[in-house]
Amino acid sequence: MSNNRKFTRRQTLKLIGFGAAGAALAACAAPPSAAPAAPAESKPAEQPAAGGGKLEIFSWWTSGGEVEALEALYKLYREKYPNVEIINAALAGGAGQGGNMKAVLETRMIGGDPPDSFQVHLGQELIGSHVKAGRMEELSELYASEGWNDVFPKGLIELASYEGKPYSVPVNIHRSNVMWYNVKHLADAGMEKPPATWDEWFAYAEKLKAKGIGALAVAGADPNFSAHVFENILVATLGPDKYLGLFNGQTKWDDAGVKEAMGLLLKTHEYAQDGYQSVAWGDINEVMTSGKASTMIMGDWTHGLFLSAGFKDYHWAPAPNTNGVFVALSDSFGLPKGAKNRENVINWLKLCGSREGQDAFNPIKGSIPARTDPDLSKYDDYLKETIEAFKTNTIVGSIQHGAAAPQGFVNDYDTVVSTLLASKDVEAAARQLVDAANAAGLSG
Ligand code: GAL
Repeated sequence: MSNNRKFTRRQTLKLIGFGAAGAALAACAAPPSAAPAAPAESKPAEQPAAGGGKLEIFSWWTSGGEVEALEALYKLYREKYPNVEIINAALAGGAGQGGNMKAVLETRMIGGDPPDSFQVHLGQELIGSHVKAGRMEELSELYASEGWNDVFPKGLIELASYEGKPYSVPVNIHRSNVMWYNVKHLADAGMEKPPATWDEWFAYAEKLKAKGIGALAVAGADPNFSAHVFENILVATLGPDKYLGLFNGQTKWDDAGVKEAMGLLLKTHEYAQDGYQSVAWGDINEVMTSGKASTMIMGDWTHGLFLSAGFKDYHWAPAPNTNGVFVALSDSFGLPKGAKNRENVINWLKLCGSREGQDAFNPIKGSIPARTDPDLSKYDDYLKETIEAFKTNTIVGSIQHGAAAPQGFVNDYDTVVSTLLASKDVEAAARQLVDAANAAGLSG
């Protein structure tokens, strides 16, 4: 199990490459040039006049917190550009069925009918799926004119960049290794503090079992949910350095720590809430707010969802054995080549990257701003704590949320976790992950 290491700011920046991207992106860390944006071969001949036309924004933000946060950005945009009609093309499903959104997006991108802008995770999801395919405009000029090279952390700019040029604008940073817990359940069980290790968590889970309460909220109808839990257990059993090694061949996917994590994952699911197999990711919050389960290992969009639902009986702690590590991901927006309303998109990106936009969006979304100069008075205790943690913790990238590994690997990883939960065959799952890593070129 990892210990509770503290890292200096310098170390944090060194590790900020969010995993797989780290080494490769460090090599292209040269400041983006101020060259004009690459000409979009497929740019439509006629662009709507400034201040008019449409703006189609594609995302999977349809849940509480997400909708309101996006709406806060739209409101600011409408105030600035009242003649632009915003088309909110959001597809329901969250990160689980984000797969659906991604499939539709892929079809549209390949078919030359891109949305004007779309939600995309910084890191491998952006670069591997869209930039390398030559479907995005580079944004060096915008970064320079908006001063973003000075206000986004260098590591984040690297994650947005390919061959030294940025291709997307980060709107936030989410932490994915959070354990959300029901404070009343904890107090009723006579616990003074939340479980900090998996050993403590299982002891708590036994107490809850005796009361008929699930220890872990699980959306079993959507296996990607458990894959999210699994990456957090991987960080716990491997520690941050070995976890990062999974993406460059330094750590093998059949390492003893990976197998230990699989065993723990299987054991956690013995303590899931009743009927968990039929719960979809989009409905998981009700499991927590109704008290059917006591803890949930999930990213901090949960904070936004709980706020939106008016749920108050909760608090948070790092996922067990991950104290001192910040598993990160970042939502961003970019400019696809051939966007029908290019000028409107550029204004959208300016807003997404602005202090005003980030301070309107993030306090509702449950994420911290990508910018380093927020108006802290707008952020609540959870977010202030998380802004601090981001400065001091070791940063690693999330697999499930696109930062650490390419989408092809994420798909395989999800399938393996799903198969593991059914077969309980740890050896087979480890072999499958080794194969998936080889196929994705993660083996060094
Ligand atoms: C993540 C995304 C978050 C939130 C979450 C919901 O991948 O980055 O913003 O949408 O999915 O499941």
